[in-house]
Amino acid sequence: MNKVEIKDGVYWVGAIDWNLRDFHGYATPRGTTYNAYIVKDSKTALVDTVKAGFFDELQSRVDAITDPRDLDYVIVNHVEPDHTGSLPSVMEITPDATVIATRKGAEELLRYYDCDGWEIQTVKTGDTISLGEKTLSFIETPMLHWPDNMVTYIPEDHLLLSNDAFGQHIASSKRYADENSEILEDAATYYANILMPFSLLITKTLQKIGEMGIEIDMIAPSHGAIWRNSGVGNILDAYRGWGLTESNDTAIVVYDTMWGSTEKMASAIAQGIIDAGFEVKVYHLGKSELSEIVREILEAKIILVGSPTINNGMFPSVGGFLTYLRGLRPKGKVGSAFGSYGWAGGAVKAIAGELEKTGVMVVDPLSVKFVPGADDLAACAELARKVVGAAEMQER
Ligand code: FEO
Repeated sequence: MNKVEIKDGVYWVGAIDWNLRDFHGYATPRGTTYNAYIVKDSKTALVDTVKAGFFDELQSRVDAITDPRDLDYVIVNHVEPDHTGSLPSVMEITPDATVIATRKGAEELLRYYDCDGWEIQTVKTGDTISLGEKTLSFIETPMLHWPDNMVTYIPEDHLLLSNDAFGQHIASSKRYADENSEILEDAATYYANILMPFSLLITKTLQKIGEMGIEIDMIAPSHGAIWRNSGVGNILDAYRGWGLTESNDTAIVVYDTMWGSTEKMASAIAQGIIDAGFEVKVYHLGKSELSEIVREILEAKIILVGSPTINNGMFPSVGGFLTYLRGLRPKGKVGSAFGSYGWAGGAVKAIAGELEKTGVMVVDPLSVKFVPGADDLAACAELARKVVGAAEMQER
């Protein structure tokens, strides 16, 4: 097996999961990778491991570089099992290695695994371990993506081993971002579905790293491709923009429909958005992936959600979407609710309430009885104008 050396003495030893299609509710049509790295010097460290079931692949990659029994350190940047599932197998081979984690990470390891006999050393921001010529320097990054997270920086190589941050869910035989097409799109989908709730923390963490004055010319995350050269600046700029919830003049219309009435309203609203000068993207929930929709919401100013009323409430598909969206806590959005009903309404009010709880500024929800007529469709266009107007006002 060929070695994949990303810097002198630093090797990618991860695993490629070609078949992953769902990552706790986030659709991953292109699979993923679980990236791990060997840092070889007078002493040797393994930074992160791989998901359970991929240990053999990790081991064969490590075997090509060093005897795994000789590992001095196993760095656990993050305890989530996609990165530690193979840790017990690693520790069986190299029981004398010291496991390095944050204090929270050590607590979580004890909950997940039988750590009997493991030496676990906790570290905090600013702590370092010398491997010889190279230094491992640790920076805590809580909630990116769990409370335990940290990143490992190697100052001699200007290399940031960033774990979940800056990752993408893609399975690829190409290790670098610049070798993969549409990689920023994959990074945006990953950010929207995994990291969007933590945008404020991401901004603060990036500021903290900036203030530390560390030089970075390569970012090697725990999923997907590695950023190098101009890619480093591109992904850092993208994270700054997403963290600050920068948005463009786009509206996302999301709906489900029973007998086509709510769909007619969605179409009339979409045309109204276009006529008001915004771009629009329309998603039928029965035909779209939630992860794709929230990727678009990440950078949109407006979100409109429609559902017919069924049994005095909204469609289950709309409820599922709103639950997913609420957890991701998008910031600074303007929107509304719309939908048709037969005798007793309920869906539109319920959607408006959920959007408000999500933090969306809701403008004049619109209900239509049975089938929208010409006046109703004109009201849809008017709603579109009002929502665009409110989004423009919010920006000033
Ligand atoms: Fe890739 Fe939060 O685990």
